[in-house]
Amino acid sequence: MKIIMLGAPGAGKGTQAERISKKYGIPHISTGDIFRANIKAGTELGIKAKAYIDKGLLVPDDVTVDLVMDRISQEDCKNGYILDGFPRTIPQAESLTRALKARGTSIDHAVDVDVPDESIIARMSGRRACLTCGATYHTVYAKPAKEGICDKCGASLVLREDDKPETVKQRLLVYHEQTKPLIDYYRKENVLCTVDGTQDMEKVFLDITKTLGCLLYTSPS
Ligand code: AP5
Ligand code: MG
Repeated sequence: MKIIMLGAPGAGKGTQAERISKKYGIPHISTGDIFRANIKAGTELGIKAKAYIDKGLLVPDDVTVDLVMDRISQEDCKNGYILDGFPRTIPQAESLTRALKARGTSIDHAVDVDVPDESIIARMSGRRACLTCGATYHTVYAKPAKEGICDKCGASLVLREDDKPETVKQRLLVYHEQTKPLIDYYRKENVLCTVDGTQDMEKVFLDITKTLGCLLYTSPS
């Protein structure tokens, strides 16, 4: 199963993608997490991406498309994957459609997690991220067992640089201009489903699994 997560910054794409990944046993591929890991490691890709991310802008399409195409060609993606944060522009979506078509396949579901802008800014200021393993927490809605420490890997949690309110506003502008048109793109491809992302995380997940039509399916392990 090949799934795309759509939605504004902070809508809950990563939170839900992580759960879907566990339930269906397919890899969760977050372009944001890949960029952050590269920034942390000081790679050439990381240095390039940081200049855009810190300003709330998108990393150029050519850089991002090559990265994702390479990732989905890997062995662990042969039974499917969840793309979280990609595509984010119409040219990215067109590149993905073309590449999949050349392999005789296509995206099965594009899940739009719908949250209005008003709720996003408040939500983002409470998010805490682990830059080591990519896990996400919230100071109110998803607390770690020990304050400031990642449950999964024990690293310190931080407020992401791009989660500061001014940068979040810029990211929302970019979302409306460049990413929201993908909703129509995937509607026309007949793979779009929209879930109400303002509900609690469990209910959002239940709605997604219902929409995927796979309530009875559970992953092998
Ligand atoms: P990326 O990391 O993808 O950021 P984003 O899309 O802006 O989305 P976020 O990760 O901020 O939010 P999310 O929807 O995953 O929400 P989360 O689950 O964490 O990208 C970062 C940057 O990298 C971009 O700005 C861009 O510069 C660059 N980039 C990445 N991909 C690119 C691409 N394809 N092309 C070009 N550039 C690219 O949830 C948010 C918070 O809310 C958490 O604290 C969570 O615990 C909480 N929460 C989640 N669900 C709920 C709920 N139902 N109720 C209450 N709280 C909730
Ligand atoms: Mg995310």
